[in-house]
Amino acid sequence: MQKTGRDYMVFPLDFSSLKEARSYVRLLDGHVGMFKIGLELFIDQGPSVVAMVRELSDAKIFLDLKLHDISATVKRAMGRVANLGVDLVTVHCASARVLEMAVDGGRGKTGVLGVTLLTDNDARAVEAGGFKECFVKDPNELVLVRARMAHGAGCAGVVCSGREAARIKGAFGRDFLAVTPGIRPAWSLLENDDQKRVTTPAQAVKQGSDLIVIGRPIRDAADPAGAAQKVVREIDLVLGNNPALRKGN
Ligand code: C5P
Repeated sequence: MQKTGRDYMVFPLDFSSLKEARSYVRLLDGHVGMFKIGLELFIDQGPSVVAMVRELSDAKIFLDLKLHDISATVKRAMGRVANLGVDLVTVHCASARVLEMAVDGGRGKTGVLGVTLLTDNDARAVEAGGFKECFVKDPNELVLVRARMAHGAGCAGVVCSGREAARIKGAFGRDFLAVTPGIRPAWSLLENDDQKRVTTPAQAVKQGSDLIVIGRPIRDAADPAGAAQKVVREIDLVLGNNPALRKGN
């Protein structure tokens, strides 16, 4: 199936109440391809958030749980996630075994995305974590090693920065998803933004990103649906110039 700009759009439901989340699902239904449910809302409301999104929208669902435990426990947790019928879930790239068990537990119903290296881990954090010097010098090398682990374990893809997407797609192929947060349209650059290594939607898609996670530029806009549409048009323009990117997964 041919992809459109909307298929690339993932909106994170980073809200503390189900009411707020519901109002944004209503606002953005039809404008984004996927809603991401994170820890805050899931811990507070549990599976009812998944049910709410499913009831109000046909968009796909990404449960950002960032699982990290012994492989048997992760497999069991993944079994429950698969029962919820969500499309994607995140698991830390802690070991090949844990990722394999996560994929197994998902039973082909829920795709596993490997979390390579959290973006708040800089070189100093990598050093303090006891990693080899080559990874301290270039934490992107660690991202690549972990993406290889995720690919080998049968994961659907990884979460990475837009700047790493090209390298990951080059190494692991078109079907291995690069999901990229840290997206800021040129019109939305925020003061004192906590996202440091940002890319625009167009840059991320040109680099090979399959899904862009874009929250605050849409959430905080005066007209969130209009802002989402603006991003969709920006991506559609890139797709128009690069027909190969239109091919869906
Ligand atoms: O509002 P903003 O566009 O920065 O939204 C970023 C979303 O992406 C949040 O839900 C955040 O948890 C998630 N995320 C991130 N960086 C990562 C992984 C996930 O910002 N490396």
